[in-house]
Amino acid sequence: MTTGTDLDLTALRAHFPLLSREQGGRPLVYLDNAATSQKPDVVLEAMNRFYETSCANVHRGVHALSRAATEAYEGARRTMARFVGATDPREIVFTRGATEALNIVAASFSAAHLRPGDRVILSGLEHHSDIVPWQMACDARGASLGVLPVNAEGALDLAPLDALLAPPTKILCLVHVSNALGTLNPIETICARARAAGVRVLVDGAQAAPHLPIDVGALGCDFYTLSGHKMYGPTGTGVLWGRGDLLNALPPFLGGGDMIKSVTFEHTEYAEIPARFEAGTPNIAGAIGLGAAAEFLMSHDRAAVLEHECALYAHMVAGLQAISGVRLVGTAPGRLASQSFLVGDAPAHDVATLIDQHGIAVRSGHHCTQPLMQRLGISGTVRASLGMYNTTEEIDRLLAAVVDARDMLA
Ligand code: ALA
Repeated sequence: MTTGTDLDLTALRAHFPLLSREQGGRPLVYLDNAATSQKPDVVLEAMNRFYETSCANVHRGVHALSRAATEAYEGARRTMARFVGATDPREIVFTRGATEALNIVAASFSAAHLRPGDRVILSGLEHHSDIVPWQMACDARGASLGVLPVNAEGALDLAPLDALLAPPTKILCLVHVSNALGTLNPIETICARARAAGVRVLVDGAQAAPHLPIDVGALGCDFYTLSGHKMYGPTGTGVLWGRGDLLNALPPFLGGGDMIKSVTFEHTEYAEIPARFEAGTPNIAGAIGLGAAAEFLMSHDRAAVLEHECALYAHMVAGLQAISGVRLVGTAPGRLASQSFLVGDAPAHDVATLIDQHGIAVRSGHHCTQPLMQRLGISGTVRASLGMYNTTEEIDRLLAAVVDARDMLA
């Protein structure tokens, strides 16, 4: 069950109850980790423990239970700060997911900084969650969108970057790792060039956080978002990290309890971060579960996990490449975790349905990246995406299932 790395996969997999289930009479092979990951026992236990022993609202009560809930919630914030390399936990805003985090930046940054005629640059690899909020913001502010193009391999073409960063551009928004193609973007280089041009950078790290150690300071970005459920945490959780001075200068996204200093019928004075962006009772158990997921990831040798995932990825890519009739979609160097492919002319959903009959979960379709699919001249792909717990044997089962699907669809 190894890939020749130091990771004890049997022990690791034992933490994930769902991985022991069967599908169609065979052990489930879960290769849809880019859509959502499975959850380790420590995450489930942390959330249960909160409900069983310290369920109360946070920041509101002076009673012991509320203090315990607040301490657990704020402890999770400190954990997430460590997880992304932030020096100040107040720069961690808990959200419903990466989508909400991206919406907060689009709405609040545009309210503060976008004027008619300004420009926002998106990469051609973006998920709809980093396109639609910016279209809404640009429509509201009279600003326009520009696109950093993608080449046929699925890598960003940086040749026009400096021209795109020139005035009137105010912010550049891009994924760290592409959900559809697995492309790993050169974030440090791009951020350095954006900084030189006086342009802010928002990085969507939803597909990077489960795989790569994150250090927002080293990346040099201004805002970073991640999704809890893709990094072994609960659904409905996520993080927006932003530089404190920038976040405190933005207007709130939602109004309500906990995000204020004072309220009269005439005027509200807003709280500083993180409360400023956490109106209402938050997903307390979810944040605690997300903190447990981050602790779980950090309790492993992340270099060994990454080495395992890269070895598995190389095995999967070589295996898919060797199957005649299979075409890889996304061939940029240095990809990570997700590989898209097509089988002859067969519709992606047909291929995924046949693969599912082998007890193997993969995703098919446009992966919420319709502009990227249009750029590549296709309507969708089949995508296999890895988690830390996947094995060589599982990849071999996928490869056999793809051969089978090809033969059935021929
Ligand atoms: N963004 C998720 C995916 O790529 C849902 O599947």
